[in-house]
Amino acid sequence: MGKSILITGGAGFIGSHVVRHFLHKYPDYQIVNLDLLTYAGNLENLLDIETFPNYKFVKGDIRNEAIVDQLFQKYQFDALIHLAAESHVDRSISNPLDFLTTNVLGTVVLLQVAKKYWKNDWNGKLFYHVSTDEVYGSLGETGMFTEQTPYDPHSPYSASKASSDHFVRAYGDTYGMPYIISNCSNNYGPNQFPEKLLPLFINNIRNNKALPVYGDGANTRDWLWVKDHAAAIDLIFHKGVSGETYNIGGFNEWKNIDLIRLLCQVCDEQLNRSAGSAEKLITYVKDRPGHDRRYAIDAGKLASTLGFKPSLNFEEGLRLTVKWYLDNTQWLDHVTSGLYQAYYEKQYQNR
Ligand code: NAD
Ligand code: TYD
Repeated sequence: MGKSILITGGAGFIGSHVVRHFLHKYPDYQIVNLDLLTYAGNLENLLDIETFPNYKFVKGDIRNEAIVDQLFQKYQFDALIHLAAESHVDRSISNPLDFLTTNVLGTVVLLQVAKKYWKNDWNGKLFYHVSTDEVYGSLGETGMFTEQTPYDPHSPYSASKASSDHFVRAYGDTYGMPYIISNCSNNYGPNQFPEKLLPLFINNIRNNKALPVYGDGANTRDWLWVKDHAAAIDLIFHKGVSGETYNIGGFNEWKNIDLIRLLCQVCDEQLNRSAGSAEKLITYVKDRPGHDRRYAIDAGKLASTLGFKPSLNFEEGLRLTVKWYLDNTQWLDHVTSGLYQAYYEKQYQNR
């Protein structure tokens, strides 16, 4: 029998790709997915794997110690891959408390329960914490974030993720918790909730709605194909060194406006619209408060120590992404209307 792993946030964007990746690649692992199914958690992301015999979905809150404890008791986890979080910067600006409770308190609850069950024998145990490059703050025109870059978060989201990273390291230093943290750049690909830049803009282009570009559009992000993030997590989970941090990225920086123009072009092609149609929807709007100017990840350590390489070039990945959303308009319509939330009731009413 292989490992028993708790994955938190497995019904979200990245988590659903991680769950699928592990279930396909490691059929002898027991995977339990604990997810609260907030607005961002969607079981329609997991339809293809929900009947796998070694997979169990549990609807529950990582802040609820009793639920987490029961799961540790029942499944005797060897490891945890922690993705559950409130993840959208704009929401963190209007509602920081959810970010504090889920991202910080929720992480500490998981650490606390893991310590309770593992402390007599840390051997073979791992608390894998999935974090973001946003903890490092904002870069000027040059330079990149390395694993040594001091933390300098600016949004309530990044402040909560930074805090959760500190708690994980503190449990390592104080109690001996075996942990790994990875800090990844912006992900893109299928199943991302259409509040984040790419799926929001694809959905708006499809519906001929304005594309709200914040500020001057010159903010820069570093983009990674979500399935490459899942593959990197797998690699680090199995080959990474306990107590270490790994930056994950694809060396793929784009100024927002350049990315948006390319996206418009790809959407016009795939929607069979005349060239330039989507660009007409670009509308500059008031900037996001505290908007980080530039992120760029130096993923050199991951490449040189563990041999990670992204599988796709960005233009290929962007085309696949647009195609996925345009082929899955029902998914988009469900998440934008809230209909996907009825799926859980229907699917799980007799379980
Ligand atoms: P997401 O918002 O799509 O999914 C988050 C998931 O967590 C949802 O399924 C939600 O239901 C669940 N969740 C939220 N609160 C919960 C709670 N209290 N208890 C249990 N489950 C809860 O987020 P994502 O983009 O998939 O990000 C996943 C993780 O990766 C996060 O920790 C995020 O900080 C990190 N990350 C994201 C990116 C990115 O570009 N999206 C980049 C780097 C790191
Ligand atoms: P987002 O997808 O929210 O990710 P993050 O802020 O975590 O990097 O935003 C990506 C970039 O796109 C960021 O610089 C903000 C910008 N943006 C817009 O210009 N308009 C929008 O409507 C959104 C959601 C984001």
